[in-house]
Amino acid sequence: MTKLWGGRFQKDTDHLVDDFHSSISFDQRLYRYDILGSMAHARMLARQGIIAPEEAEAIIRGLEEILADIEGGRVQFSVAAEDIHMNIEQLLTRRIGPVGKKLHTARSRNDQVALDVRMYLRDEIETIIDLLRQLVETLLDLAEKHLETVMPGYTHLQRAQPITLAHHLMAYVQMFERDMGRLRDCRRRTDVLPLGAGALAGTTFPIDPSRVAAELGFAAVAENSLDAVSDRDFVVEFAAAAALIMVHLSRFCEEIVLWSSAEFAFVELDDAYSTGSSMMPQKKNPDVAELIRGKSGRVFGDLMGLLTMLKGLPLAYNKDMQEDKEALFDVVDTVKKCLRVFTPMVASLKVRPENMARAARGGFTNATDLADYLVKKGVPFREAHEQVGRLVYYCLSKGKSLEELSLEEFKQFAPVVEGDVYRAIDIGQCVAARRVLGGPAPESVRQAISRARERLGR
Ligand code: ARG
Repeated sequence: MTKLWGGRFQKDTDHLVDDFHSSISFDQRLYRYDILGSMAHARMLARQGIIAPEEAEAIIRGLEEILADIEGGRVQFSVAAEDIHMNIEQLLTRRIGPVGKKLHTARSRNDQVALDVRMYLRDEIETIIDLLRQLVETLLDLAEKHLETVMPGYTHLQRAQPITLAHHLMAYVQMFERDMGRLRDCRRRTDVLPLGAGALAGTTFPIDPSRVAAELGFAAVAENSLDAVSDRDFVVEFAAAAALIMVHLSRFCEEIVLWSSAEFAFVELDDAYSTGSSMMPQKKNPDVAELIRGKSGRVFGDLMGLLTMLKGLPLAYNKDMQEDKEALFDVVDTVKKCLRVFTPMVASLKVRPENMARAARGGFTNATDLADYLVKKGVPFREAHEQVGRLVYYCLSKGKSLEELSLEEFKQFAPVVEGDVYRAIDIGQCVAARRVLGGPAPESVRQAISRARERLGR
């Protein structure tokens, strides 16, 4: 099998090596971008008088046919042709004859592969931003329905203070909005045309990268040819942004796993998003949530792999960089798959407000409010803390909650307590009184929801 680069060689590569260094099994997913990039390159070569207009036309027509054939499933890629770039060039030359051999003028696979990956990632970032937007919209809709659904807020997974489900969901809205921002930011640095850098040192041909950039919708052209072919920062940045998306999904999933247990019983998963046990007939397991939590690990692994692959590379291109693709594709596939199943799973959650409210009432979550009540009556906070601590201890021994104590019982520990205490420690009131910006009061959360909707609209 003659290689496109075979001129300098006296001997074929070992078949093990052919197989080892071939990337066609995975980089074939870049075929569309490779072809679009080649078309723009051919048009530019003709415009600049580097090849003849009829030659460019023949090349572009040939590429169009190849694109249609690939999409129609009529193309068998060859491992011997190494990668998607050489596969397509070989198909082209077979189809249109020697003129196909002119396509690679003033170009290297090094700038070509960087171009393909950037074009691919630009699109995938858009798709993922869109999936995040759908998730945020789902969370906002759900939050709107649960502005008054009181539940315990936790620290150390111990009941701490009462909040609402809406407030809890809005914390995740913040996280996913930051994720969208990181992706938009990363997209800006992805949106740079590397074509024209050649193998590493540019070219002597009078190329016109700015026109190619405009044609392919790139916002900028790479400023340095060495960097253009050896930069994969944008891949790492994307993987890091994706890793944080997975952290957020994983934390949420952990809560869904907890909340759907009989011990919490805050939510029930829809049958469509849970599975049974092969042995225990009663089981309804939160497999989807667990699997998303589990899949976060592979994305972190991909990120680590990318960083490690890059760290020792001298400038400019090195074959190590071919290893960027499987990691990148895995990140893209995993994040998309997780978001696609997570959003409808959350949308179909059955919420159990009674159980949430019972848990909020049961865990002395209004103890801070009682201390604050004493402070407002003139007791120094540290003293109020002490008095309420003793009251809680007393309640525990009597099996009572704070609101079940009589005025006399209150006064034994906290002499300034009066009849208005019951309103001050009513759970609903404790939430409603937290009207600060970013707080759980229904009014505050309603405003947070409308601000988030406004940001989404932009
Ligand atoms: N398949 C290669 C990659 O993914 C394309 C670039 C190859 N360049 C080279 N000089 N071997 O990185």
